[in-house]
Amino acid sequence: MQAEWSDLDRYFTTALQVEDRALNGALAANAAAGLPAQDVSPLQGRFLHILARLMRARRVLEIGTLGGYSTIWLARALPADGRVVTLEANPAHADTARANLAAAGVADKVELREGPALDSLPLLAGGEPFDLIFIDADKPNNPAYLEWALKLARPGAAIVGDNVARGGAVANVVSQDPSVHGVRRFLEDMGAEPRLTATALQTVGVKGWDGFSIAIVNATD
Ligand code: SAH
Ligand code: DHB
Ligand code: MG
Repeated sequence: MQAEWSDLDRYFTTALQVEDRALNGALAANAAAGLPAQDVSPLQGRFLHILARLMRARRVLEIGTLGGYSTIWLARALPADGRVVTLEANPAHADTARANLAAAGVADKVELREGPALDSLPLLAGGEPFDLIFIDADKPNNPAYLEWALKLARPGAAIVGDNVARGGAVANVVSQDPSVHGVRRFLEDMGAEPRLTATALQTVGVKGWDGFSIAIVNATD
């Protein structure tokens, strides 16, 4: 099935004119720097971009920058005074991202904080709350990232989680994979959290069989 999933993703990407030079340039720079190809797909990136525009998001928090491909999509959705704060632990990834964000012309809208996300997140408390939070880093820490997202999001904010299907592995109750454990606990914590209304959608495409979760932070009253 993978060949068919990729074929249809490619057709959608072409028909909808999703790619451009800056975005493809970032992917080429990532490959040249030896970064893992774990970026969102072009169609997924545009989905995040549309979500941010629908919400009229001004402040976006991204956990897991890699080379900044998803960051570019999010930054382009923001008004002139909008900001993406993006967190990346790996210095080589952060270097590539800084160059890609500058080349794409969005560096002025992005604040890249280098270091483990769990070190950076406490420093964001007390600042302006976020409208949209994209969680896409080390999956074993997803439950901790969710706790921080709840502290940092405004009522009505969206919290999106990447890679919640992992080829179906997330359904495996007895999995020993720490990423599966992290994603399962993340999902179950969201389900049990009265401050959130959450769902998850499976996706197939160039990245195989995977999925997104999306939650909205309920208004307090
Ligand atoms: N959002 C990116 C892909 C992110 S891949 C895109 O779609 O383009 C996951 C990234 O999380 C990797 O770059 C990895 O180095 C980073 N990461 C892993 N553990 C981390 C941690 N503890 N804190 C911050 N970043 C981390
Ligand atoms: C992996 C991580 C990601 O964030 C992703 O989107 C795809 C794959 C990984 O760890 O393999
Ligand atoms: Mg991901």
